Amino acid sequence: MNIITQPISEIIGQQIINQDDKSILEIDREKIINLFKEYGVLLFRGFNADTEIFRDFSNLFSTDFLDYAGGAFNRRVIDNDQTILSVNDFQTEIKLHGEMYYQKNIPLMLWFFCANPASQHGETTVCDGRHFFAELSNSTKELFSRKKLKFTVRMNKEQWLIKYKIDDVNQLREMCKNHDTHLTIYEDESVLLEYICPVVVPSKCGNYKVFINSLLPSIQLSPDVLRFDDDSQIPDELMGELNGIADKITTDICWNQGDLLMIDNTRIMHGRKAFTDETREIYIRLCSPAFQF
Ligand SMILES: [Fe+2]
Repeated sequence: MNIITQPISEIIGQQIINQDDKSILEIDREKIINLFKEYGVLLFRGFNADTEIFRDFSNLFSTDFLDYAGGAFNRRVIDNDQTILSVNDFQTEIKLHGEMYYQKNIPLMLWFFCANPASQHGETTVCDGRHFFAELSNSTKELFSRKKLKFTVRMNKEQWLIKYKIDDVNQLREMCKNHDTHLTIYEDESVLLEYICPVVVPSKCGNYKVFINSLLPSIQLSPDVLRFDDDSQIPDELMGELNGIADKITTDICWNQGDLLMIDNTRIMHGRKAFTDETREIYIRLCSPAFQF
């Protein structure tokens, strides 16, 4: 099968476009893996994919699917498959982030599928974290080499039972231990969780630094949960610099029905634009690559 590719935008990714009405399942797997390793984000367009094809195609490249336990948003399970989730919890903008970077065990790879695009707006956004790091001022690079992010979340018992999909406090203790999360349990079994992580991480190959984290949407949606690890506030001027870079180097993916998006969650940040069309349906799968990575 002949693959026709072109950049997603001038600065990021590749799109693989169906020319001869072929099934996406016939694509040369090795070619896709090589493109994914080089670009970090691939858009598959024109393959007339449905939810079943989305599942089968992503299964060819992925393993260790997660059920989003501990996730920040409400996500609806699609077709009784706990590994296919709708992302439309609410309709406002979500700024650039690495998926689940507010906890230790992140999915290394993401898939998105457009079951139905919004009639207008609702684009998914992408940005290369290497590029983002390169755009930071020297003083901000220096700041991020000294300070980490600290997420602090308070929850009552009902909230943590639902959020982590567990049954008791011992499971919560075990989970926090595995996730390097500091846990304080109060008499009424309400809890305080504290998790510290870097703003900038080394790339998989070790040759680059990558700005990838949950900083932008956390400050946008729940600013109280986030401080630096020395408990200092994250300054407004810093957020101004970061949001300015995001505006400059973010690419919008304008969805077509049946599009698939494959993302390296160790390098490529994503987000989405606001929308009002309630029929927008974008699905996500959280997983790891089933190939050397
Ligand atoms: Fe996300």
